[in-house]
Amino acid sequence: MGDVMLDVKELSHCLESESPKIRKEKDSVILLNERYNTPNTSLLLFHFEPQRYSSSDLRLKDCSIQRTSIEGKDIYIFDDFFTEGEASLLRQYSKDATFSRSSYACQESREKGEEPARSMNNKEKWEFFAKPPQAIKEIYKLFGLFADRMNANISTLPWDLCDQSICASAVATNRLEKVDRASMEMGKHEDFNTEKGIPFGIPILYEKEKRFYPGNFVNGAPGNPWLVSFMVYATAENFLVPEYGIGTIFCKKDGEPVAKADCRHMRFVLFEGDILHSIEESKIPQGVSSWRVSYVFKLIMNPKEAGRSMRTAFYDLLKSYKKEI
Ligand SMILES: [Fe+2]
Repeated sequence: MGDVMLDVKELSHCLESESPKIRKEKDSVILLNERYNTPNTSLLLFHFEPQRYSSSDLRLKDCSIQRTSIEGKDIYIFDDFFTEGEASLLRQYSKDATFSRSSYACQESREKGEEPARSMNNKEKWEFFAKPPQAIKEIYKLFGLFADRMNANISTLPWDLCDQSICASAVATNRLEKVDRASMEMGKHEDFNTEKGIPFGIPILYEKEKRFYPGNFVNGAPGNPWLVSFMVYATAENFLVPEYGIGTIFCKKDGEPVAKADCRHMRFVLFEGDILHSIEESKIPQGVSSWRVSYVFKLIMNPKEAGRSMRTAFYDLLKSYKKEI
């Protein structure tokens, strides 16, 4: 035997040519709020077909997972899931990709001359989703493994939900260099809130007759869908963690920040989308040029069995890999 240890992730990558299977579905959800009945709304959902990918299984055994809870809602932080090759490819991809849309925290900060975040326009985002770099394909496979092990149907939220002025999308990309303190404060938001109500109805999978959940339900309670946000970070090579900031802060309902995910290259975070959160302010020194990108997927985990809590099923699944979480 030589001195070179074979990395388990490299091995799983070599052994497998498995590709993630994604199914497109047009009319699986119904629109509940006429406000979103606009030409730009698309109710397309993408389902990650259940499959026990052995590469995802090996990676889960090998990676590190941290769990935090805020007011009963969960945040999971994953590191060391990808190969070196995937990590450098995603960095290069993020460097070369075009983010041709500007986005501001709000109108006020825009007038004050805030440096806007950059995000992909519809076409760029579609290409990213449909022809993603390898690291993102591994994420799609991971969703397939979650679906299989949790006995759930896992899909994106509807592709675009647009009213007259704003558009919420299932997939979001955000390229940032500067974020000031004011934007961090003003940018606090929930990705969705199922107790206040969501504008679409999700099908109930464990009933014979075709029925839909109402727009209001308790996220992740037994027998209910669990809506979560899933975010992958990519950074420039010179990006210092945690010195440069621009991670994600998580707050209690009253706005008090109580947890933070540092922005680490190839880290991914799964969190309940109704946790109040914002982008941490940037601490990149004057004169230093650096950047970070986050790729966000908003997901529906829909139980196939009555009485099953997806939040608990997810926790149990990860506990089968990491006893200590
Ligand atoms: Fe968000």
